[in-house]
Amino acid sequence: MKVLDSELMKGYARMAMDGYNWGWHERNGGNLSYRMKSEEVEELKEDFRYDGEWQSIGWQAGDENAFPGLAGEYFMVSGSGKYFRNIELDPAANVCILQLNETGDRFRIVWGLVKGGRPTSELPTHLANLEVCKARDPQIRVVYHCHPTNTIALTFVLPLDSRVFTREIYEMATECPIVFPEGIGIVPWMLCGGKLIGDATAEIMKTQDVAVWAHHGAFCCGYDFDLTFGLMHTVEKAAEILVKVLSMSPNKLNTIQPDQFRQLNAPFGVQINEKFLYEKKDGRIGQLPE
Ligand code: 13P
Ligand code: ZN
Repeated sequence: MKVLDSELMKGYARMAMDGYNWGWHERNGGNLSYRMKSEEVEELKEDFRYDGEWQSIGWQAGDENAFPGLAGEYFMVSGSGKYFRNIELDPAANVCILQLNETGDRFRIVWGLVKGGRPTSELPTHLANLEVCKARDPQIRVVYHCHPTNTIALTFVLPLDSRVFTREIYEMATECPIVFPEGIGIVPWMLCGGKLIGDATAEIMKTQDVAVWAHHGAFCCGYDFDLTFGLMHTVEKAAEILVKVLSMSPNKLNTIQPDQFRQLNAPFGVQINEKFLYEKKDGRIGQLPE
């Protein structure tokens, strides 16, 4: 089968367009990776070419990236400098399928980027995340990076502390702790595109599905495109509500209390991490735990 005719390509392009339509992908902002299933590789292999050169994963000086846990696997990845708004229009020019070598430290392009280019500059972070996510739960295949406006805005006014950020987001929508009971991790501002930020993000993704990059964007992971997009959408919706609340007042008059969050655990089959359910002194937004 041709990659362009596959359900995988359609699902990938739809997610890219959804993110663009939400305003999370200005210019070339954001990137998306998918760790392919072996049956998808088998089905699409006839459309692959194996004469591409093996390339190094890192592009920043001194970066040595190796992902032995992903050796030999195939990934659908957006191109660096490519615009999400163009993916649906011309997937073959804006997306590629790459294969990692047997030691997991080099890749070659087997499909796509037909007008030239390289995979996203955030490839070290995508592969670092996909590797720890696979070890945590082999069903996790999607890693998504975008620039969601309200989530980014909050990184300027909330303490860059996973507990505070998560708790304030949780209070904005009852569904949040059900959708991501392990909360949101925070990476302070760091140089993007390299191994250091990849390692910091992967440290979060060992246990959490969402990592916010201060003053830049967010990463999230999931089993498929629907779940991963839905997760980002849920975080950003709650962030938008919080931005609106903050624009009216630095304090909340009413909110969801820790014991009310705990009531969600049994009926929804989740275990909300207790570290987010600390007591607060008053309604002030962004207060640190005692
Ligand atoms: P790429 O165009 O290299 O994917 O970079 C976009 C981006 O969002 C960097 O963080
Ligand atoms: Zn970015």
